[in-house]
Amino acid sequence: MCGIVGYIGTKKASPILINGLLRLEYRGYDSAGIATIEKSGISIMKDKGRVKNLYNLDGIDNLEGTIGIAHTRWATHGKPSKENSHPHSDNSKTFSVVHNGIIENYNELRKFLTDNGYTFYSQTDTEVIPNLIHYYYNKDSKNDDLKLLRAIKSACMDLKGSFAIEVLCKDFPDNMIVVRKDSPLVIGKGENENYISSDIPAILSFTRDFYLLNDYEFVVLSRNKAEFYDKDLKPINKDVKNIEWDASSAEKDGFDDYMLKEIYEQPNAIRETIGAKLNENSKCEFEELDFTKEYLLSLNKIYIVACGTAMHAGLSTRNTIEKLCKIPTEVDIASEFRYRDPLVNEKTLCIFISQSGETADTIAALKLCKEKGAKTLTITNVIGSSITREADYSIYTHAGPEIAVASTKAYTSQVVLLNILAIYFAETMGMTNPCIKDLKEEILNLPKKVEECLKISEKVKDFSKKVYNEKDIFFLGRGVDEVVAREGSLKLKEISYIHSESYAAGELKHGPIALIEKDITVIGIMTDPNLVEKTVSNLQEVITRGAKTMVISNQKIDDTMFEFVINIPNTHPFISPIISIIPLQLFSYYIAKEKGLDVDKPRNLAKSVTVE
Ligand code: M6R
Repeated sequence: MCGIVGYIGTKKASPILINGLLRLEYRGYDSAGIATIEKSGISIMKDKGRVKNLYNLDGIDNLEGTIGIAHTRWATHGKPSKENSHPHSDNSKTFSVVHNGIIENYNELRKFLTDNGYTFYSQTDTEVIPNLIHYYYNKDSKNDDLKLLRAIKSACMDLKGSFAIEVLCKDFPDNMIVVRKDSPLVIGKGENENYISSDIPAILSFTRDFYLLNDYEFVVLSRNKAEFYDKDLKPINKDVKNIEWDASSAEKDGFDDYMLKEIYEQPNAIRETIGAKLNENSKCEFEELDFTKEYLLSLNKIYIVACGTAMHAGLSTRNTIEKLCKIPTEVDIASEFRYRDPLVNEKTLCIFISQSGETADTIAALKLCKEKGAKTLTITNVIGSSITREADYSIYTHAGPEIAVASTKAYTSQVVLLNILAIYFAETMGMTNPCIKDLKEEILNLPKKVEECLKISEKVKDFSKKVYNEKDIFFLGRGVDEVVAREGSLKLKEISYIHSESYAAGELKHGPIALIEKDITVIGIMTDPNLVEKTVSNLQEVITRGAKTMVISNQKIDDTMFEFVINIPNTHPFISPIISIIPLQLFSYYIAKEKGLDVDKPRNLAKSVTVE
């Protein structure tokens, strides 16, 4: 989704802004632009296409300003074009604004402004913002230091939807004002300088000290300070938060792509996720949680709500929670859940999973559950992300920054953490299940087993070379393997653009088998000892119809039946998705590479989906 960068300090702003935008490229975008305050006023440089195109714009090298704002746009209202790119100005060119999010009432505001003599030059929702600021600025007869802040605040109060905005004003050449609502924005504090970004990694090489903003907190930035105001423009205090990630962990470390690097980081990411929470011989510990035995025993249901891969992490763990805790557990897609008036009350625990912690639908679903009286717990990878500011409880995967759009290490870390959480619930509830001991042992063995599994990389690459030109690929599995089939299929679609479907193997006969014809590729995942025979029979049915099969299994199977067999390390069935997904992550990666595609930034996709 769109990215925001800003700088106010003593250095030349433009290289810092462009560098920051380059670091945000992974979020997905189609145009880019910057605005700086120059001696002659505000200068705007923007165009559609890649950030690096900004280097070719006339006059970019002559920019001397030490204050600037920058943006990568992912088109929502209006096609990718220079006119629709940010920054946008008001008609008088007094203000320059970049914006992330969606202004839902922009038609109404546009009409209001048009009726008041304003003209619009783009098709964006954003262009109403600088003009609305101008409208209030002009109406204000007081000419004091807070005039700009008042105008921005009044404009923001008229906006419906989500926004993170940066504003420059030519009458206040030594300030920048920023504010957010339901869209990420952080401020990095330096020595006589401040950095602004929608994402911490983009400015991590400049500072590790951050101010995290809540909705409707207005910040007046100058070179040596950041002043915070609430909705009523009363000054507020904010603490600086030190972020532990270092910039190098957000770089590629010699790998061709972030995705491959992140796949290989999984053993370590899992180690970090386990941290001190799990110990073979003592109870699981979550110091962030204070759930009592009585509370957990009183629950009538657990909801796990998330989007995309994060939702698959929930599905992968539903069984563990139900088996260990005997609490009915439902998993839902956030964008569906929030609009279906779910049966949630104070006896429901709602868990929200989000790598970025910024996914708009997941955050909205969380807010809904809070309103209905449920306790809310979020599992995220990003400390201080928006969702953590809404949830009653936040626990972190500690997988390190995930840059590639296709989620890999975040998924496996989420599944690890959810399994540990299930054990923690069961132990707190006093449930005794003999499998807990074995499960704990196997979770602690995971980093090693994932390392071992990564060694099959070359074999997967060979198979990918055979099938990268396919039009359709099918994934089959049963139980947790069905969830892995879904996740493998999503990974493949996302980065290789090959049409793929996943099915519960038992459903095959109820329709999908009609699609099976000679030479079609079918991938079977078989890790559950109780279900392996059944899935083998389903694969036999597709082989009979001429399908090529690749099988991923940790069970004893007849290798000769299938074209390709990938043997993976065995583990406890509850956590097998953490291992069985590895060959499928590699499979989608190598197919995309074989096709010469941009693995880290697949078309049409964004890393964090901050709008509905
Ligand atoms: O940041 P989140 O975990 O909330 O993101 C949810 C989905 O957008 C995300 O998992 C998406 O499906 C990934 N691109 C999958 O690889």
